[in-house]
Amino acid sequence: MHAIVIPLPSLLPPDSFSGRTVVVLDVLRATTTIACALAAGAAEVRVFVDLGSARRASRDFAGPRLLAGERECHKPEGFDLGNSPLEMTRQSVAGRTVFMSTTNGTRAIQVAFDHKTLLKAQPASACLAGALVNAAVTAQAVRAMDRDVLLLCAGSDGEIAEEDLVGAGAILSALEKAGAHVQCSDDAGAVEWCERFVKDPWRVLKQTRGGQKLLGAGMAADVVACARLDSVEVACHIDDRLRIRGVTPEQV
Ligand code: MLT
Repeated sequence: MHAIVIPLPSLLPPDSFSGRTVVVLDVLRATTTIACALAAGAAEVRVFVDLGSARRASRDFAGPRLLAGERECHKPEGFDLGNSPLEMTRQSVAGRTVFMSTTNGTRAIQVAFDHKTLLKAQPASACLAGALVNAAVTAQAVRAMDRDVLLLCAGSDGEIAEEDLVGAGAILSALEKAGAHVQCSDDAGAVEWCERFVKDPWRVLKQTRGGQKLLGAGMAADVVACARLDSVEVACHIDDRLRIRGVTPEQV
């Protein structure tokens, strides 16, 4: 299997999705929060680039729903929940559709979706949202799809975010552990970032771009929650209507 790590959406080569499984990562915190929401029983997560679109879609939805997301790390006005994985409890999200907009993570998912849609004529690529919390199950889903893989990091405000490289490295390592022979294009050093993380998770994550931002906002508990490697058993599948559902690797 060939794997390529793209450290930022803006660095995505034009034809890079063709025939690949794509995994979008925003470890601190959007894709972690999505994985935790689905593991807690959310019916699905729908993502939006801007707050207004999320508000409108939620308002027009007839079933049980929630608005979640952040701007500058904090819950936007009128939203039910912020972007914390710790808020995604069974009590708050089970059976509900979560309408979500964050600064970088939901945008990266939208970029991946648009890229895939543009490539309609090419062999279809499947999209997943991945994080440290579901690295192993995401790797299993990637294996089950039996294609090459592209790991797309969301970054933070147009800059590379090291925590996303850690997450990409964790998925690569889980693929190897599951017996895949991975040939990797990893100029950004995701594998090395993950090795550093495994030795001292807190020390590494707190120095990352996203870690610094969250610590500055008093959200250390979220950084700790996002570092819980393989604590979630759900892979997050992004379908052709940009809806994200929790699946087992076999269901992808
Ligand atoms: C994002 O999408 O930009 C992040 O998830 C930011 C955050 O969690 O505050």
